[in-house]
Amino acid sequence: MKLSDNKATLAFSNGSPSIELPVYQGAVGPDVIDIRKLYAQTGMFTYDPGFLSTAACQSAITYIDGDKGELLYRGYPIEQLAEKCDYLDTCYLLLKGELPDAKQRADFHKLVTNHTMVHEQMQLFLRGFRRDAHPMAVLTGLVGALSAFYHDSTDVHNAEHREIAAIRLIAKMPTLVAMAYKYGVGQPFMYPKNDLSYAGNFLRMMFGNPCEEYQVNPVLEKALDRIFILHADHEQNASTSTVRLCGSSGTNPFAAIAAGVACLWGPAHGGANEAALNMLEDIQRQGGVAKIGEFVAKVKDKNSSVKLMGFGHRVYKNYDPRAKLMQQTCDDVLQELGLQNDPLFALAKALEKIALEDDYFVQRKLYPNVDFYSGIVQRAIGIPVSLFTGIFALARTVGWIAQLDEMLADPEYKIGRPRQLYTGSPRRDVA
Ligand code: ACO
Repeated sequence: MKLSDNKATLAFSNGSPSIELPVYQGAVGPDVIDIRKLYAQTGMFTYDPGFLSTAACQSAITYIDGDKGELLYRGYPIEQLAEKCDYLDTCYLLLKGELPDAKQRADFHKLVTNHTMVHEQMQLFLRGFRRDAHPMAVLTGLVGALSAFYHDSTDVHNAEHREIAAIRLIAKMPTLVAMAYKYGVGQPFMYPKNDLSYAGNFLRMMFGNPCEEYQVNPVLEKALDRIFILHADHEQNASTSTVRLCGSSGTNPFAAIAAGVACLWGPAHGGANEAALNMLEDIQRQGGVAKIGEFVAKVKDKNSSVKLMGFGHRVYKNYDPRAKLMQQTCDDVLQELGLQNDPLFALAKALEKIALEDDYFVQRKLYPNVDFYSGIVQRAIGIPVSLFTGIFALARTVGWIAQLDEMLADPEYKIGRPRQLYTGSPRRDVA
């Protein structure tokens, strides 16, 4: 961290002495005021529910400029990565800090490919779930259970353990997500096929069956790979912060990532793609484009809790750059599948147009986020709505691991332990 010449002075109106706080500069983006000694010096905490103004760590992985609508992985703009790299290149970049050269690329692909199968007994574990269980419930369990199957990579303080756990998680997530799907629909599990790409293999495990050869459609393969790239990391969002907090206790990486999966499930976070598609289907059922006005009025009504799902973001106060890329992918996929006239896509476009022109959304800087279009792409590919968040979890696993590893390697890392403003009863006695 680079100390700034600038210093912050905190003064109090009650006559307590003011204190000076150091300021640090990032490579780009806002500076931070270092308040670590605040409690020792003043006996006071800071209060920031939702972390609106709090940097909880230093990180060199992902940078977002929310006003510009810019997203960088290790300094590279997301648009360039989506255009020129595949998901495994992106994984390598996030984990190691640099894009791989040709040999590193081949070695990394081979390494991940070598770990795509899961312990055979995981099938028995999976079979304990109800067939109609939500895939995120299943995945939270399966990912957590990996620590029971891979004892040799659970020590977070051992760099070798961490590395092998990282590769196992990246390699096995597609297998687990596809298994959760196959179990739900009562079809046989498909073993991974390692001469396919990461996305191609996932498509085959999802939609292939043991009776026929499965041909991977390159347009869908590319679309899925792009979904994975766009969701690979997003700095200190709720699930990533959950993984960091969980991992800060020294728990094993599989348990920490399972905590991230559980957090991602919520509709304000990863569950938004499922919620966005359900919303579009609801409007469609009620009359489609003609009903948009009525729906938008409900969203704007302070007394209703209706939100325009897939819109708004804590950090982006401009168009989410991932949403632009996803819209382009959406066009490609619908064209490939002959679904250009898909009514939900038309509805999404009409809704987006109206929302972008409406004062309510303009004033609050509410723009489409990545989830607005990713649901339409996934639905067109044939992925059931309830699995959307599982796909997100699959893609985000690498980001969670990269962030967890970064935290563990940070000499300033401590167990996460927020404080509170206590508003309950002072000490009292039981009568
Ligand atoms: N629809 C309608 N109004 C909204 C929306 C929305 N989607 N999002 C925010 N607002 C309004 C709020 O009601 C609030 O209005 P007010 O100032 O009149 O009270 C204002 O905009 C600010 O919103 P906050 O809730 O304070 O913004 P916050 O940063 O806390 O929330 C969030 C961000 C959770 C993403 C929110 O925009 C939301 O719920 N969006 C819908 C869910 C969604 O798409 N989530 C995906 C996030 S991206 C991801 O995880 C991949």
